[in-house]
Amino acid sequence: LFTKDLYPQGRPVLAAVTGWPLTYTRSPILHNGWCAHYGINGLYLRLPLKPENFERGVRALQALGFAGLNVTIPHKEAAYALVDRHTHDARRAGAVNTLVFEADGSIEGGCTDGIGYLDSLREAGVTLPRRALVLGAGGAARAVCAALLDAGCRVTLANRTKARAEALSAALGGGHVIDWQDWPDHLAEAELLTNTTSLGMTGQDVFDWAGSLTKAAGSLVVSDIVYVPLETPLLAAAQARGLATVDGLGMLIHQARPGFEAWFGRRPEVTPGLRARLIETL
Ligand code: ATR
Repeated sequence: LFTKDLYPQGRPVLAAVTGWPLTYTRSPILHNGWCAHYGINGLYLRLPLKPENFERGVRALQALGFAGLNVTIPHKEAAYALVDRHTHDARRAGAVNTLVFEADGSIEGGCTDGIGYLDSLREAGVTLPRRALVLGAGGAARAVCAALLDAGCRVTLANRTKARAEALSAALGGGHVIDWQDWPDHLAEAELLTNTTSLGMTGQDVFDWAGSLTKAAGSLVVSDIVYVPLETPLLAAAQARGLATVDGLGMLIHQARPGFEAWFGRRPEVTPGLRARLIETL
């Protein structure tokens, strides 16, 4: 498979992303782009695995000598159950998106979504907020809330289905839950608004963001983890009010960095070229 003419440096370090149906993933662009940029002999593949084949598939890739995997929908909870050890962030998120196959045969599971989100804020020049208002209560919301809480931020949580926000808050031991329809009233005291819901995603429900932002302080930073479209209706409404915004592409890039470092041995940088290549794919 890895013949001398194709791989003059020998067999590459192997990693992959798995999910199902995994119709489209940008992870290979990131990891193979970084390998090319740094001259690393690495290869990052896209390997769909049906849920019923997930565990066997992971064990097979480990036996084949892969360095590790990224795991996406719907395998993040199955990955959590499969690994031998969890990072602190994985335990907080209750999910695993990064597997590292260790030399001793064990598997470490991490969740890099929350730290990826905080790093995307930092990259955008946003200092860590003291108070954040987070919309949504799915898996992404949990990772983001955990990272914000662990960084010392006070988090207010609003979700259409309030019971899910309450369960999230209970699981994390933090966060103040409010009714969904009340969130615009809590903007005045927030320094950061984070949308983790699918509202604003191409093809999803529409929402009156402009009307909801009228009580925002001028210093509010508005971020959306949705990145298709890159300028979401929320970000467009925030910009129209002159508010600072952070788009979801940064989180996508930054959540990939810890895995790349663990597998390929180098902390990768976020270059403008990489952002541009990803934007071409949106
Ligand atoms: P994730 O991908 O982060 O795991 P998810 O579990 O798919 O997220 O949840 C999507 C989020 O978007 C949820 O918080 C959902 O609210 P519910 O818990 O009430 O379902 C939210 N969401 C989706 N459509 C919405 C809408 N039209 N109005 C408000 N919230 C919505």
